Amino acid sequence: MASQKLEMIFESNPNKDFLRSNYDKPLIEQWYRSRGNPLKYLGLPAWEMLDIIEWQDFLEHFTTIEREEDQQHLMFLRANVKDLEHRLHALYGEFDDLLLTGRDKYGKTPQWPYDVINLNYFGGFIYPNLARPKALKKLIENQATYERNFVLLLTQHLRDRDSIGEKAAFLGDLRKWLKNSTYDQSLHAAIDRVIDWYLDGEIPDAARQALYMNYFLRDSGEGEHFNVKCRAPIVYSSSGGAWMIHFATEFYYQPGMGHRAASDQSLVELINLGLREVKDGKFAKSRFVQPTL
Ligand SMILES: C[S@@+](CC[C@H](N)C(=O)[O-])C[C@H]1O[C@@H](n2cnc3c(N)ncnc32)[C@H](O)[C@@H]1O
Repeated sequence: MASQKLEMIFESNPNKDFLRSNYDKPLIEQWYRSRGNPLKYLGLPAWEMLDIIEWQDFLEHFTTIEREEDQQHLMFLRANVKDLEHRLHALYGEFDDLLLTGRDKYGKTPQWPYDVINLNYFGGFIYPNLARPKALKKLIENQATYERNFVLLLTQHLRDRDSIGEKAAFLGDLRKWLKNSTYDQSLHAAIDRVIDWYLDGEIPDAARQALYMNYFLRDSGEGEHFNVKCRAPIVYSSSGGAWMIHFATEFYYQPGMGHRAASDQSLVELINLGLREVKDGKFAKSRFVQPTL
């Protein structure tokens, strides 16, 4: 009876459903098979716990973070109905604060380390206090402390208008890094062409956000001795019509290293990943076609 009531208030979205079942799930299954053990999950599943339920055959324990009290209560109920309660470790509060301080509002701590981390949050990435990038760096540092490989799924709103300055500065630095590491002068014109394209105010911000985030994940991971493999980010529209961007990134710990790691995926490969789009519950021809190096 209770489960029927819960199912009725659930609102689905074909694009998100597609990503959860057809894109993220095969990746999680691949991780489960190569690890040979069920995986530990950390994420923001909301009360429906659709991701946990969809991937439950590959998961062992789940740590959930939720800042809405009513969602938290419904989550307990749902876990009970789905017989998942004994595998659930529920934390309460803002995930940025929780990751930065290491504790939730009641002083409970995450159970580090994790294999699958699914952060599907409201808002963008860069705010003046930089709490979100700091929280993500802390998360990567925690995983490194345990030398644990992991896959990070990250979904955020496409609305970083307040961070145009930050992204422009990043693109300026990226131009310098690329030129400094490319001795062949004939490639410099191609680097300028690509970076100028990203800087152009006319191009959709999605392209800048995609490149910025992937670079951030790679750079933060390498700093903590991870070999980082990024994938092309995916843009889709959510139930409320808001535009979202989804990232799936793999982090492989490189033991016995005093210096930062160098990923197998090159910076040029990362830049050339581009951006994909999901529409009407399937991959569509992307409107975001960026120049490549
Ligand atoms: C979009 S839903 C998660 C959907 C789920 N991952 C799936 O695949 O269906 C996000 C949930 O996280 C919570 N949430 C969003 N931003 C948060 C934040 N900054 N800190 C804590 N919880 C947050 C919301 O209240 C909501 O219940």
